Amino acid sequence: MTRGAQQFVGAVTFEGVTGRRVHTDLFESGEALAHIRLAREARAIVVAPATADFLARAAQGRADDLLSAMLLAARCPVLIVPAMNDRMWSHPQTVLNAAHLRELGYDVMEPAVGPLAYDEGEGPGRMPDPEAIAAHVERMLRTGSLLDGKHVLVTAGATREAIDPVRFISNSSTGKMGVAIARAAWARGADVTLVAGPLEVPIPAGVRAMHVTTAADMAQAVAGAITDADVLIMAAAPADFRPSSVASSKIKKANAPDAIALSATTDILASTIAKRPAKLIAVGFALETNSLLENARAKLAAKQLDMIVANRAGVEGEGFGADTNRVTLISPTGEEVLPLLTKDDVAELLLDRIEALLNGR
Ligand code: CTP
Repeated sequence: MTRGAQQFVGAVTFEGVTGRRVHTDLFESGEALAHIRLAREARAIVVAPATADFLARAAQGRADDLLSAMLLAARCPVLIVPAMNDRMWSHPQTVLNAAHLRELGYDVMEPAVGPLAYDEGEGPGRMPDPEAIAAHVERMLRTGSLLDGKHVLVTAGATREAIDPVRFISNSSTGKMGVAIARAAWARGADVTLVAGPLEVPIPAGVRAMHVTTAADMAQAVAGAITDADVLIMAAAPADFRPSSVASSKIKKANAPDAIALSATTDILASTIAKRPAKLIAVGFALETNSLLENARAKLAAKQLDMIVANRAGVEGEGFGADTNRVTLISPTGEEVLPLLTKDDVAELLLDRIEALLNGR
């Protein structure tokens, strides 16, 4: 704890809550080289919250307290988690300090946006959630993934196709599977773009989200992001049909139509075939109520995929909305039946298989 930190919470309280020894002084009782020892022992260092003053001092390489001296002695990955007033965060000097720290190899998180102290309204400056910080640490410590530095493009969720200004056609996809894949790919060091329809789960930390509503919007977003992608994973459930015309005002009950004429939407995966970079690994999903494997194999061929994830609709604990899924991974050379797993575990296994494909390219 720095001197500043101890103004907010006492070291004794912190020690009581964590059950860990709290270090505060460069010249602690009897141990002159604590900063060297702590730096050598650490696999990772997380400075959270990091004040504007800390950013300035770390950017200058100061060593006049235990934390700053320890940072200079450290060779492990360092995560700095800024938290301060939004005006202080946007001051050009702080912007320079954060940029300089990144150049020096420190990982500097972006502060979260939200209500700030002193009734200053909303702005970037809040300390990110502990879960987001933990996810960053996981990514920092993970080494050796072939996805590290790769651009992974994931789609998730349903689309909405308007009938009139207040009604739409959609499906029950919640986006859980695609979001689990995006989170897992980011933790492996990938640069992740998530093209998301309306989701019922939050966007994971670190993932760059592009929000879309219709299948046409999703097709456009995918076409824009695919140009430098290494991997495309189409986990979304875009609508296959849209109303042929959209009523400009709310359709009144008294004028209920007998039928709504539908037109096909773009098959997004198929539309990417001509735009795919040569090395792209393309993965699709197949959601079926009947003849699962036959239909999935046909989609693998028709959409020219490296792999398709076959899953069933309408079965408890599988497919839309569930936290678990039972899938078969099908590639042109083989099939792998997986047991009932959490969607997080399905995501990890899928990425393992994608890494194997990347290894062969
Ligand atoms: N997909 C797509 N564009 C659409 C519909 C689906 O890119 N308009 C993608 C899905 O994201 C998935 C794959 O195509 O990766 C298969 O989707 P699925 O709904 O199982 O099959 P469809 O191609 O829609 O065929 P059908 O509805 O006849 O089963």
